[in-house]
Amino acid sequence: MKSYLFAPGPTPVPENVLLRMAAPIIHHREKAFSDLFEEVREGLRYLFQTKQEVLVLTASGTGGMEGAVSNLFARGDSVVVVRAGKFGQRWGELCEAFGLSPVYADFPWGEPADPERIRQLLDDNPSAKGVLVQASETSTGVMHPIREIAEITASRDEVALVVDGITAVGVFAMPMDDWGIDVVVTGSQKALMLPPGLAFVALSEKAWRMVEASGTSRYYFDLKKHLKSAQKNQTPYTPAISLVIGLHEVLSMLREEGLENVFARHHRLAEATRGAVKAMGLELFAKASPSDALTAVKVPEGMDGIALKKTFLERYGMVVAGGQDHVKGKIIRIAHLGYFDPMDMFQVIGALEMSLHKMGYPVQLGSGLKVLAEKLA
Ligand SMILES: Cc1ncc(COP(=O)(O)O)c(C=O)c1O
Repeated sequence: MKSYLFAPGPTPVPENVLLRMAAPIIHHREKAFSDLFEEVREGLRYLFQTKQEVLVLTASGTGGMEGAVSNLFARGDSVVVVRAGKFGQRWGELCEAFGLSPVYADFPWGEPADPERIRQLLDDNPSAKGVLVQASETSTGVMHPIREIAEITASRDEVALVVDGITAVGVFAMPMDDWGIDVVVTGSQKALMLPPGLAFVALSEKAWRMVEASGTSRYYFDLKKHLKSAQKNQTPYTPAISLVIGLHEVLSMLREEGLENVFARHHRLAEATRGAVKAMGLELFAKASPSDALTAVKVPEGMDGIALKKTFLERYGMVVAGGQDHVKGKIIRIAHLGYFDPMDMFQVIGALEMSLHKMGYPVQLGSGLKVLAEKLA
């Protein structure tokens, strides 16, 4: 049986990228690396749609989130944290771990944040220095309205908008400079089609001013140190060299395809997947603004979602994601970010139909596949 990854990270890695990363290791203080890193820096600015430096950290995505919190904010600072899923909770935990005073903008799982609530919380807490939010909340499959939130924060000189774009960057448009976003974080194992191990962080001028002013303790994730090294085509410590080589290849692929086409490809697969699951009589978990990164689907009433996930794996070799916390066993999440194409979606929708059928749900076999074909033909 073959193995298939259909969870929203880690995602499959293209064959040409795997081959590049299998090449003999090069030394990171020699010219071969700095030449390559110079092109990587340029490619990342294109991807993030920014003129700012995009810092490359050796960490999973959470390391990038930690770097943002520890560099911008000091103990006791008030920040607004959007919590509408597992990763919103993570922002909150991080802020609390660093001694900040988060004010929570809580929304039910499955719903997007309401920008007006955020505006109100900022008005009620005039000392707040940031708004921390996900662009795509991977635990629920919902997209938050980043553009609208940025309109609120952009005019406030003392407030930084910090966006976890871990399942957004390279999936849908989020032009950092045009929208006035202050910090964007992502990770390598999602739309960047790489193994886990790299985090990326970009900061606006406003955010860099806040880093200067905050004066907090930091070492490995000292972003100013990373910036200084990057400007010399270097990293302060030994980078994950093989991953950076793979990243070089991925960035060339994305540039060749063109960002607009990359976003259109994700949207097409997402729309087709959503249409297919609905045609099977299933319901999306997202009440509004479903993310183009993944589709979260409610498990039919009375069916065990953990058993459904197990059926995917045992009968078809497919890893899909389940639900977390209080939605464990109640939803499954199917990825379509990164290295996926239309035929991949036929496999996962086919497996979903057969798994549901096997578990006694009255699905009409072919109903999802038919819609998928209609949408992708
Ligand atoms: C939106 C979001 N934020 C944060 C993370 C955490 O990233 P990592 O597991 O790479 O630390 C993830 C990973 O799934 C994510 O999807």
